[in-house]
Amino acid sequence: MAKKKNNQARKDVKEVKKVSKKVHEETEEKKDIEIHNYMDEETEEKNETYDVTPLEDAFEEIESDIEAQDKKFDKTEAKLEKIEEKIADKLDDIEEILESDDTDESEITKEDKDEIINDIKENKEKRKKRYRLKKSALVLLGIIIIILIGIFAGVSFYKYVNSAPYLLEKKGYTEKEVNRIIKDKNLTLMLLEMDYNEYILDIIDAKYYLSKNLDKYLEYKEKNKDLSVDEVVAIINVHADKEWYNHTISTDTTKDYLILVNKVYYLEEDFEAPNIVNMSVRYAFSGRQIRQDVYSNFIDMAVDAKKEGLTLVANSTFRTYATQEKTYNYYKTNKGSAYADSYAARPGHSEHQTGLAIDISTLNSTSENFEDTPEFNWLIDNAYKYGFILRYPENKEHLTGFDYESWHYRFVGLDVAKKIHEENITFDEYYAYYIEGDK
Ligand code: DAL
Ligand code: ZN
Repeated sequence: MAKKKNNQARKDVKEVKKVSKKVHEETEEKKDIEIHNYMDEETEEKNETYDVTPLEDAFEEIESDIEAQDKKFDKTEAKLEKIEEKIADKLDDIEEILESDDTDESEITKEDKDEIINDIKENKEKRKKRYRLKKSALVLLGIIIIILIGIFAGVSFYKYVNSAPYLLEKKGYTEKEVNRIIKDKNLTLMLLEMDYNEYILDIIDAKYYLSKNLDKYLEYKEKNKDLSVDEVVAIINVHADKEWYNHTISTDTTKDYLILVNKVYYLEEDFEAPNIVNMSVRYAFSGRQIRQDVYSNFIDMAVDAKKEGLTLVANSTFRTYATQEKTYNYYKTNKGSAYADSYAARPGHSEHQTGLAIDISTLNSTSENFEDTPEFNWLIDNAYKYGFILRYPENKEHLTGFDYESWHYRFVGLDVAKKIHEENITFDEYYAYYIEGDK
């Protein structure tokens, strides 16, 4: 194949040379004809002059032109020869390269050619197959990725729509409320089970909130919208939502200083207060009795009050079940049940039966005007330091069940008295939250 091209190139060069030579010869002939013509014309025109000088000049000019043309031709011919040589060299190089090549075209048989063609075809097919395979694999991979993304997005969406934050927000809680709710797993589960409630978070965040009472808080708040959440929590905690004496509980007498006795919690008739001792007339009106440990604390308090010129006198102290019955009945008979119930506990419901309560007065005061005495003010500021608390404070009647009693102090021990004083709560509230708690 290459050799054929080589030979063809050589032929082409020869052909160029031939044409070139022919052009040269034709140019020479043309020149002769032109000279003859010129001479004939000049002879006819000048006729008889026969001055050949101009002719000679013209000839010289033509000859110099011809010489110039010859030179140009020679140059062109030389160039062509050089080109021919270069082509020949190149052809020789190609020939050499082809000869040095392993595949000698002349040795390739038809079978070889067919085999090569088949190989090429097979390779082409293989390449096509590989390409198709690759394409299929890529498509498959793409489909798998899309499916995986779909599954992931689906699962994520499913998880989201079933997630607590989503469900809580759907119920109506704000994003801020949801963030607060989901911090507490139990609360989250509880709220997911309930309908939206506008008070619930305030209730749950109330200081004395007890989870066991949540339903009651919600119900009570719904019926008493004018009450604050804290008031609702306190009322429910101390069972003040129920009619007094209609819902009673036998109190836990093992609580010692912390026995709770009120219109809900009661002492059995045969309950015997421990360590009841007689009191000195120095600290009490004649014939008064009290628990030994309460007495010593009362004495400490009375002694310190005395240092400030104040006289604390124990007026009413330990009362038995029977005595309390008489007291209550006295008021009931003389002032009516309503009055009696506001000032005196029914038998079994008075903490005077525990030996832990003291009605305090001064030498020259009564219960009615005790609030106006300096002793009253001193007790307000100092009683807790000796373990005593004002048991029925003003404005807490709805929690204690009794009218404000400026004189009735209850011994609860130093630590509890301090806490109740600091938190400004009733003993009933303290007991509900700190002693019973979520039990
Ligand atoms: N005065 C109080 C409430 C009592 O009778 O125990
Ligand atoms: Zn009292």
